[in-house]
Amino acid sequence: MMKKEIERIGVFTSGGDAPGMNAAIRAVVRTGLYHGKEIHGIRRGYYGMIEGDIEKMGPRSVSNIIQRGGTILKTARSQAFFTREGRQKAYRSVTTHAIDGLVAIGGDGTFRGAVEFFEEFGVPVVGVPATIDNDLYGTDFTIGFDTAVDTALQSVDKIRDTAQSHDRIFLIEVMGRQAGFIGLAVGVSGGAEHILIPETKSDLDAICEEVQSWALKQKGSRIIIVSEGDELGGAAEIGKKIAERTGIDYRVCVLGHTQRGGAPTARDRILASLLGSAAVEALLDGEANVMVGEVNSKVVRTPLRDTWEKKKAIDKRLLQLCEILSR
Ligand code: F6P
Repeated sequence: MMKKEIERIGVFTSGGDAPGMNAAIRAVVRTGLYHGKEIHGIRRGYYGMIEGDIEKMGPRSVSNIIQRGGTILKTARSQAFFTREGRQKAYRSVTTHAIDGLVAIGGDGTFRGAVEFFEEFGVPVVGVPATIDNDLYGTDFTIGFDTAVDTALQSVDKIRDTAQSHDRIFLIEVMGRQAGFIGLAVGVSGGAEHILIPETKSDLDAICEEVQSWALKQKGSRIIIVSEGDELGGAAEIGKKIAERTGIDYRVCVLGHTQRGGAPTARDRILASLLGSAAVEALLDGEANVMVGEVNSKVVRTPLRDTWEKKKAIDKRLLQLCEILSR
């Protein structure tokens, strides 16, 4: 590991926002200041890095934000950064502000950009995992996942009242374009009858058969949780297919972006505080191109590339459990 004294750290959030990002920014700023370093906030992720939208932060810049959802630094998905020219401009801004280390708070898209930037220009970057999807290898949980699951669960509980009163089937769509972690957690904690996620092949025939047997059994409420990225389609599409085959009435609720906002849970605030601080310490230790994460209650550093190249497995036992417990 090459040691290089870091004096000025740039921090930014990028990609989809996640509850707890603010708590992570706060931890980066205050840990950096604690170690006598200068911290600069880069607004709107890589877009702001290219534009030079960068400002020095002090301890009061992060007052009263630990409880707030979203990100005070704002976020964006920059296409320009994925061009050599864009990254060149970003590098110019970073050197203009004499930033010699970066903390990138986000998900796999953010980290892919960070790796390219590090490989081309050698600016050390440490990643902090923040995405509601929880789909990063190298950490048991990502910042924002716990809050998103709780938010979705509150809606599921409410829908359950109506589903039960009307003896109706509800298909509830949760976020997760490529990953079913939210779907699985919400399905198990919400007592769903079926959970459809991208990691497993969904069997429409079996679902239709079950739905019809429910009707015969006069079972009360029926909740089917669908991850938006399921290979059979979204909740609306799947509901239509089930109705075409069974003639059963159904309703759909897409929870959408409600899952991204809101005050972070205590768990997310703690994780964000821990990992934001650990990211600064990693940079000061001379680390580069790694993500800090928490695995089995220990803070670990994982090469950034592994965080998306290695796949974090879903816990398949939970799917089976859901089937057993919802009979
Ligand atoms: O943050 C991850 C995620 O919530 C995905 O599950 C979802 O598909 C995507 O972001 C949508 O984000 P946006 O609407 O910002 O493009």
